[in-house]
Amino acid sequence: MSASSFSSLPPARKIIVAIDGPAGAGKSTVARHLARHFNLLNLETGAMYRAFALKALRADIPLQDSQHLEALAAETVIRLEPGEEENRVLLDGEDVTGLIRNQTVTDAASQVSVWPAIRAWLVRLQQQMGAEGGVVMEGRDIGTVVFPHAEVKIFLDAAPEVRGLRRYDQLGPKPAIQPEEVIRDLRARDERDRNRADSPLKPASDAVLLDSTHLTLDEVIAAAEAIVTAKLAQVHHGDGVGYAIPDGLPVAQEVVE
Ligand code: DC
Repeated sequence: MSASSFSSLPPARKIIVAIDGPAGAGKSTVARHLARHFNLLNLETGAMYRAFALKALRADIPLQDSQHLEALAAETVIRLEPGEEENRVLLDGEDVTGLIRNQTVTDAASQVSVWPAIRAWLVRLQQQMGAEGGVVMEGRDIGTVVFPHAEVKIFLDAAPEVRGLRRYDQLGPKPAIQPEEVIRDLRARDERDRNRADSPLKPASDAVLLDSTHLTLDEVIAAAEAIVTAKLAQVHHGDGVGYAIPDGLPVAQEVVE
């Protein structure tokens, strides 16, 4: 292809990497790593649902009361500021980064996220944040709803027991609860996230499935890196041909339904 025919091509949009999957599958770690490695912004959409849940809890609004929640959302400003390690989360200007990871907010986030109006509001914000591309966006519905045309979609999963035990280990020395409780909470959250009517957690039909049940963190990161590298090569060729899925990783299409 000559230089002049290159110049007639539309400028390439910067890549969007969508990472979806259930709680405790390692999405944040993988997203953080990919962002660093490929020089992308890392946006954790779960933090937005968490920040809104914190506001609803503070306002004493029942999490089943969708009308009041919707009214609350209309007067709420949530911002994510990507950082090296994690996103800084601003709720109406207040830095709530350190307040949204406890179990109460975790459960509440899953509950407020079932409401279509809340989802529509946050999805719109997420689409604005990623409009320029150059992002890794992590959540439950990124590849299916937020960016259905994302260049790379990874659905990261693992057996519930393995995810629960990883979460338990992250709780630090002598957590007050038993591993079984962590696994039970995680299953309950999975159940709600997978079965809600609006945008349930599921792999996009063109997502690459990455099951980390029997993989070390280094192996998961290496596999995710290989998926993005292969896709970048395809995007650069611009021919849509030759995108090889790394060995052993099925695309969702072959597995789901
Ligand atoms: O990823 P996380 O654990 O921080 O997410 C908290 C909750 O937010 C999760 O239980 C479901 C919801 N969520 C969602 O519905 N859609 C997203 N894109 C991200 C999170």
